[in-house]
Amino acid sequence: MKTRVLTGITTTGTPHLGNYVGALRPAIDASRRDDADTFFFLADYHALIKCEDPARVARSRQEIAATWLAAGLDPNRATFYRQSDIPEVPELSWILTCVTAKGLMNRAHAYKAAVDQNAAAGVEPDDGVTMGLFSYPVLMAADILIFNAHQVPVGRDQVQHLEMARDIAQRFNYLYGAGEEIFTLPDAAVDESTALLPGLDGRKMSKSYNNTIPLFEGGSRGLRDAIARIVTDSRAPGEAKDAEGSHLFPIYRAFATPAQVKDFSDRLAGGLGWGDAKRELGDLIESVVGPMRDRYEALMANPDEVEDVLQMGARKARAHAEPLMARVREAVGLRLGKAPAKAAKAARKGAGKARFVSFREQDGSFRFRFLAADGTALLVSQGFADPKAAGAAIKALQSGEAEVSVEGEGAFVIRLNDGLLARVDELADAAARDAAIERLQAELKALADAE
Ligand code: TRP
Repeated sequence: MKTRVLTGITTTGTPHLGNYVGALRPAIDASRRDDADTFFFLADYHALIKCEDPARVARSRQEIAATWLAAGLDPNRATFYRQSDIPEVPELSWILTCVTAKGLMNRAHAYKAAVDQNAAAGVEPDDGVTMGLFSYPVLMAADILIFNAHQVPVGRDQVQHLEMARDIAQRFNYLYGAGEEIFTLPDAAVDESTALLPGLDGRKMSKSYNNTIPLFEGGSRGLRDAIARIVTDSRAPGEAKDAEGSHLFPIYRAFATPAQVKDFSDRLAGGLGWGDAKRELGDLIESVVGPMRDRYEALMANPDEVEDVLQMGARKARAHAEPLMARVREAVGLRLGKAPAKAAKAARKGAGKARFVSFREQDGSFRFRFLAADGTALLVSQGFADPKAAGAAIKALQSGEAEVSVEGEGAFVIRLNDGLLARVDELADAAARDAAIERLQAELKALADAE
């Protein structure tokens, strides 16, 4: 099976060189791999959380879409779409909101930072905090889970959101999966090998530091002007310079071959002047970025072409999102009145035979469910310290070694050598209790006979 790689880009800004090296280029490289199935999207619902300027959101969507295509993303290989073109995303987001603990959201870094700032300013803790900001991680979880992504390339600041997406997926699977993994648990992929590109002043290149080098904005002139502003030491031409210690060198390295890197470093040590070094850096970047810029400008002048690509992406994406959403709706009880949808039927694959399904609890203990042939959960075991103990308990149930005894009107317990194996309670009355015991035993027997 291919690894499904998915990532989103919030559409509030204009891409700079750091975005290209840190996110775009590796994503496009991944989209060319044969073992990966890539999904890239414009997170324009997320943009509304940060930005209330409609013109800016609209412009940024356009610029980012054109940038990805100009940089070489093949929309026939990757699935490239806008979040807001996928109605299943907000639909799932609501359902996930209903299983997400508020306390989990209270711990989100972005929300906590806003609260801390408010405390420092001496205003109400939630001053200026919208529900959008507060629920940001739930929407992000929906983005990821609706496509059952395995790997999510993100910056370090987003790792917590991935942990939350896993938590939410686990909770949903536990509550509604009847032993099946409706959602895949995603992993964050933080690429340690792509060094952060330093900005003009040597700090991480970021809009908030105002130290960026534009990717396409301002044309070739804009690129060279920015490069001219990279901060260097005051060594004159002819003086030996330490490449590694300069802000300019890591940027050069991000675009050069190893041989070019070595040569450049040697010549700096040999006295190459900063002015000449910057000119060379400009030539190098321009050789890569120049042809892309031409394509970018053509795409910006032809918004219909970009729109067609995005609509095709939305169709491809929805072909995945729709069946999974049908399954989710079915799982939570929002069933269609008529015959269940095909997708929901497929969701019950594995039906037809009673089975044990093991899972791991958040506290680390191991449990299992015993499901009837029609998928009804007949019991949930106690937590076991390790999978072996849980396996032994399953064996005991199958062999009939475990003992069933009633416990009052509405409950029964299953024991093995005096240890509790499972407790089934909340049965309406003694008749329901006896029926449940009978069914459990019949299903266990049917399973044993089948094996
Ligand atoms: N929150 C991400 C960021 O600011 C953008 C994003 C939204 C995203 N949804 C996502 C990234 C889903 C990965 C997966 O960078």
